[in-house]
Amino acid sequence: MSLLSVEGLWTTFKAPGRGVIQAVAGVDIAVAEGETVGLVGESGSGKSTLARSVVGLERAGRGRVTFAGTDVTRGWPRRMRRDVQMVFQDPRSSLNPRMSVGAIVAEGWRAHPGLVGSRDAGAQVAQLLEQVGVDPALATRRPAQLSGGQCQRVAIARALALRPRLLVCDEAVSALDVSVQAQILALLARLRADLGLAMLFISHDLGVVRQLADRVAVMHRGRIVEEGPAEQVYESPRDAYTRTLLDSALELD
Ligand SMILES: Nc1ncnc2c1ncn2[C@@H]1O[C@H](COP(=O)(O)OP(=O)(O)OP(=O)(O)O)[C@@H](O)[C@H]1O
Ligand SMILES: [Mg+2]
Repeated sequence: MSLLSVEGLWTTFKAPGRGVIQAVAGVDIAVAEGETVGLVGESGSGKSTLARSVVGLERAGRGRVTFAGTDVTRGWPRRMRRDVQMVFQDPRSSLNPRMSVGAIVAEGWRAHPGLVGSRDAGAQVAQLLEQVGVDPALATRRPAQLSGGQCQRVAIARALALRPRLLVCDEAVSALDVSVQAQILALLARLRADLGLAMLFISHDLGVVRQLADRVAVMHRGRIVEEGPAEQVYESPRDAYTRTLLDSALELD
C-alpha cells in the first residue's frame, strides 16, 4: 500500500490579468513507505503547488489525497499533521530570525506535546542537531549567524523533531553552492536509510534528483507526463518533453 496517494488532483488559481491557472491539472502520484520519489519539471510546471496541495497549504479543487489510508484532501487530522513535514528552498527565510536555533528545532513540540517531555527537550534538541551534523553548541545562535547549509540542516532537524513518515523537500538544495548541495543530499540519503523516511523530493535540477530518487515523475504544465524508475526515465525516456528536459540539462553541464 502507498503511504501517500494522490489521485486526479486539480488545483486552480484565479490571478488578476491571467485568468484561471490550472497549476495542477489532474495529477496521479504515489509514494510508498520508505521510498523517494523525485518530481522534476521546469519553472511554473506546478511542482510546488502540487506539494502544497498535498500537505494542505493549498486547497485542491478536485481529486483525492490519501495518507496511510486516511483521506486528507480536505485537511489533515490534528494527530496526523506531524506525519508529513516540509523543507523549503530558502533556509534563511524559512527560519524565524528572532528565534534561537534550539527554539526553532523545538517549536513543533508545542503542538505535539506527547513527543517530548519538557525535561528532555534540551537533550533531544542536541541529539537532533547532532543527527543533522550541526554542533549542538550552536543551539543558542540565531539563523543569521549560521551559513546557508547550516540553516538548511536546522530546517531538516526541525522537521525530524516531529518524527515524520514523509518528508517533502521543495527545491531544498537549490539555493546552495554545489559542494554544500552534495553534503545536504548525502545527509538526506543517510536519514532516509537510518529512519526509513519516505520523501517527495522536488527540484528543477535533474542531476540533483537523480542522486536521490528511486522513482521519478516529470511534470509539465500541471500534468505528470512521465513516471517510472529513475534509471528508466533518465536512460530511456518515453515522453518527448522528458527528452527535451534531459537534453537541455546536458547542454547546461
Ligand atoms: N498563489 C498563487 N496565485 C496565483 N498563481 C499561482 C500561485 N501559486 C502558483 N501560481 C501559478 O501556478 C503555476 C505553477 O506554479 P508553481 O510555483 O507550482 O510551479 P513550480 O513548478 O514550483 O515552479 P518553480 O520551479 O519556479 O518553483 C504558475 O503558473 C504560477 O504562476
Ligand atoms: Mg516551486
